[in-house]
Amino acid sequence: MASSGSSNLPTKEVPGSYGLPVLGAQKDNLDFLHLQGEVEFFKSRVAKYNSTVFKVNFIPGNPAFPDPRGIALLDQSSFPVLLDSSKVDKTNVFTGSYKASDDFTGGYRVLSYLDTTDPKHATLKNFAFEVLKRNGRKFLPEFQSAFHAAFDAAESELSSGKNKADMAPLLNQLAFQFLAKSIVNVDPLTTKLADQGPTHLLRWIGIQFAPVAPGNSTPLPGFAEDVVIRTAPLPFLLVKADYDKLCEFFQLATEMLDMGEKEFGLSREEAVHQLLFLVGMNSWFGFSARVLPNLLYRVGTLGAEFQKRLGDEIRAAIDVSDPAGSFYGALEKMPLLKSTVLEVFRFDPPVLYQYGRPREDMVVESHDAKFVIKKGQLLGGSQALVCRDPKVFEEPDQLIPDRFVGKEELQANVFWSNGRNTKSPTADDKQCAGKNFVETIARFYLVQLFARYKTFELSEDSTLNTPFLKSFARN
Ligand code: HEM
Repeated sequence: MASSGSSNLPTKEVPGSYGLPVLGAQKDNLDFLHLQGEVEFFKSRVAKYNSTVFKVNFIPGNPAFPDPRGIALLDQSSFPVLLDSSKVDKTNVFTGSYKASDDFTGGYRVLSYLDTTDPKHATLKNFAFEVLKRNGRKFLPEFQSAFHAAFDAAESELSSGKNKADMAPLLNQLAFQFLAKSIVNVDPLTTKLADQGPTHLLRWIGIQFAPVAPGNSTPLPGFAEDVVIRTAPLPFLLVKADYDKLCEFFQLATEMLDMGEKEFGLSREEAVHQLLFLVGMNSWFGFSARVLPNLLYRVGTLGAEFQKRLGDEIRAAIDVSDPAGSFYGALEKMPLLKSTVLEVFRFDPPVLYQYGRPREDMVVESHDAKFVIKKGQLLGGSQALVCRDPKVFEEPDQLIPDRFVGKEELQANVFWSNGRNTKSPTADDKQCAGKNFVETIARFYLVQLFARYKTFELSEDSTLNTPFLKSFARN
């Protein structure tokens, strides 16, 4: 039997209950989605069972979907077992027990659903690495130009009399423009797609992952929302027209598709679908829905004094007239920038859940006890709790931008990428293929922000995912 440790902790039964058949899952889902919310749901059960490992019904808990019964791993001792490819099987658990139909991806199984033991996993992961490597020199300049287009648009909204600029659509466009221009090597605005790339992607992703969307993802009241999006999988047909338009655009990625065919043995058709999921879902969604708005929101809420401090560090390190050209050489001179990005990733992990199934019966250790867990059991971690584990992070619920300055060792405890932050992804693990790239772009985004602005302010109705720019002071 595999073990996640070798301590003398007591062995305990996994606490908790799945409740009555069907009703138990629906009760947990109701709490999770509507009554308690994603964080309180887990926190309240940690308190109730006095344990960070317990039984729970994950979403979607409806008979039309596979069995949602699983075990939550919510501390820094038990959670890392989910990152260990030798211990857990990640077949089809990208979004837990629910797996979107392959219809959404042209009939192909995309990388995110493949376990490391699937021979195609390494092929597709190496393809992903090459996509990033081959376009390496384009990313920063393209990001820079898309960044200025987005913030020029925000400023002109403000100067035309609006009291706030809605940044979400502008960041959606920013992310799509820089990724598409770098990877597809074509400006979407000059094609039939025009500025509709993000709209098509949002619909395709929204319908595909609707059953695992957070509560209040639609304007419908809770009960109606559950009926519409969580009763059964939604059909691809609803977004076929959107997906076809996206495919047409990705067919223009000649260089990447040639590489997929010639160097990785993919059919041209499969290369299009794999590339579209990689760029449209893994990359674009991560940036547009999480990384870019979250950083803007958190740095906005940290206020003018902090912004001046971070801006001074950045402007002293880079050439403000050429951020893209001077960025890499300046990185080591910007410890506060690096720490701030990582602290925002810790505070608001962009992807909250990780799942896996033990390859064999095994022992998992929390901080307090050992648990025997059966082969095949669905295990799930919530990063929202793991990245705020009070046994590892002091004042875990405070956003402390300096937290990681001079504290290299603490960085290993941030897991946003499905791997420790001190580790880089490989073809043999399930860590995000874009982990280092994402960190680079996140840092470069703040560099751009403070090369342009001394300070900025968001309006009070801003949220993590939808920041509104209210005012700014240009450098
Ligand atoms: C922008 C923000 C991004 C975030 C927050 C993010 C996060 C993640 C996470 C948490 C996983 C693991 C999912 C799981 O539990 O299995 C993952 C997987 C993956 N990500 Fe990212 N990602 C981002 C961007 C990117 C980019 C830019 C790429 C481009 C190469 C990328 C490529 C992948 C791939 C290929 C996988 C699957 C890895 C595998 O199956 O071995 N991601 N990502």
